[in-house]
Amino acid sequence: MPLVAVTYVKGRPGATTTALGLAAVAPEWARPVVVECDPAGGDLVRRHELAAVPSVVDLAAAARGTARPREVFAAVTQPLKVREAMVPVVCAPPGGAQTRAALPELTGGGRAVLTAPDRVVVADCGRLGQGSPVWSLLRLADVVLVLARANAADVAHLREHLGDLIDAGEGRLVVLLGAGAAYPAAEVADVLSTHIGQELARDPQAVSVLGPLPHDRRAAAVLGGDLVAGRRWRRLPLMAAYARMWDDLAPYLPAVAALPTEQAAEAAS
Ligand SMILES: Nc1ncnc2c1ncn2[C@@H]1O[C@H](COP(=O)(O)OP(=O)(O)OP(=O)(O)O)[C@@H](O)[C@H]1O
Ligand SMILES: [Mg+2]
Repeated sequence: MPLVAVTYVKGRPGATTTALGLAAVAPEWARPVVVECDPAGGDLVRRHELAAVPSVVDLAAAARGTARPREVFAAVTQPLKVREAMVPVVCAPPGGAQTRAALPELTGGGRAVLTAPDRVVVADCGRLGQGSPVWSLLRLADVVLVLARANAADVAHLREHLGDLIDAGEGRLVVLLGAGAAYPAAEVADVLSTHIGQELARDPQAVSVLGPLPHDRRAAAVLGGDLVAGRRWRRLPLMAAYARMWDDLAPYLPAVAALPTEQAAEAAS
């Protein structure tokens, strides 16, 4: 059930950019799909001029039915093109009310649509707060990727949520430092693991720290729909950083099931 949840606790550190960027440069085995689950509403429709429907509302409706996840995603995803890469995305309406209503449907008991065995779902969960409806999704995730800028204020806010994040589920907690870091990853890892071990009395190894991501306006503009990707878009520093991250995430993701033969032929055509 490979599910990667991308979230953050403070600022706008680049969660949506990261969810889409990871999917755009994912290795072939991942067959990723991006699902907008931000309780504040989606951004991809506006940024990439996609259709408002189908959306996460349709995904939630399908999750109640008996269709297999593969068929469900075929019906509710839209292709988002980053030059030659085609990223399937499930958009969320702007505003957030419909996404907040859809989340319990997607994550309730017995619902398996977000944990389909044959693809990695990258869920953009937006900003995390007490009582946010995305906590139920974090519980299902194999990797909870928490974006944070490496400055004193954002790390302090992150520390406040660490206990809840560690307890949220079985998945691996990964803190990804956003662009414009004031501290290196090793220093942040040190601060967080000391806090986890001494103040929370939990395993100091419960969190990994990755990044910082490069500040890369061009790549961010491509992923934000403001710039058309050039021929060498994969070589942009941010894209290359996302591509390398898959090596760090792979050990925490269950193997993606191979498609049945006829599906594989269909996917390749
Ligand atoms: N690595 C980066 N380098 C430069 N700019 C970036 C980078 N990542 C994101 N940005 C820019 O930062 C802004 C916020 O990004 P994004 O929308 O991904 O944030 P977010 O964390 O999802 O917050 P929100 O959901 O509130 O918009 C965008 O303008 C985006 O282009
Ligand atoms: Mg966002």
